[in-house]
Amino acid sequence: MSTHAARFRSRNYWNCAAAVFQEWLREPTQVASVVPSSPVLLNQIVDRDCIKTASSIIDLGPGTGGTTEAILDRANDTCRVLAIEKTEGFIEPLRSIDDARLTIEHGDVIELERILLAHDVRSPDVILSGIPFSSLSPDAAASIMQSIHRVLASDGTFIAYQLRNDVARYAEKHFGTPESTEMVWLNIPPLTIYTWRKNGPY
Ligand SMILES: C[S@@+](CC[C@H](N)C(=O)[O-])C[C@H]1O[C@@H](n2cnc3c(N)ncnc32)[C@H](O)[C@@H]1O
Repeated sequence: MSTHAARFRSRNYWNCAAAVFQEWLREPTQVASVVPSSPVLLNQIVDRDCIKTASSIIDLGPGTGGTTEAILDRANDTCRVLAIEKTEGFIEPLRSIDDARLTIEHGDVIELERILLAHDVRSPDVILSGIPFSSLSPDAAASIMQSIHRVLASDGTFIAYQLRNDVARYAEKHFGTPESTEMVWLNIPPLTIYTWRKNGPY
């Protein structure tokens, strides 16, 4: 059993925080944050009708699973949640979330369309992203955004929580102006939550 597996038999904030810090030391630009997202940020992300009514939700860059657990807490009983995480050290913590609605994929979001096909997930209602668009190459960021827009349900919602506003630049081409932009100060670091609706009024 790996150290993570042993450590994550019981999930708690400090175990998750230790794993995030350890992986951040290894891959700072990929992990992009030194601690998991705060409860204030998580509540602001998931306290929405689109999460409660969704049939399928994709969590891009779930880390140790804070966003994933928050989604599962609000989502309905039949909602499928697919979490796609690139950092290997976060996979055991994610697998310790015991919920039949959840599927974990150890992979790179650049392969979003292939991953959704492999899991038979079509037209997700919500895509949530914490992956650091500012640290991706422009080609990778543009390609991921195109895939997000392509796979999302026609009235689906795309939510991104980010330190910098590069995500808005990439999203604008496909989604237009965000439906909302909210600053969350009670998080390390303070982040902005951007929300777009595909084919929305904006
Ligand atoms: C800012 S953290 C968010 C973690 C967690 N969702 C939270 O809110 O605490 C960004 C996450 O995206 C993951 N990530 C970065 N690039 C990725 C990629 N190309 N594919 C999948 N995951 C990626 C990182 O490993 C990290 O877990």
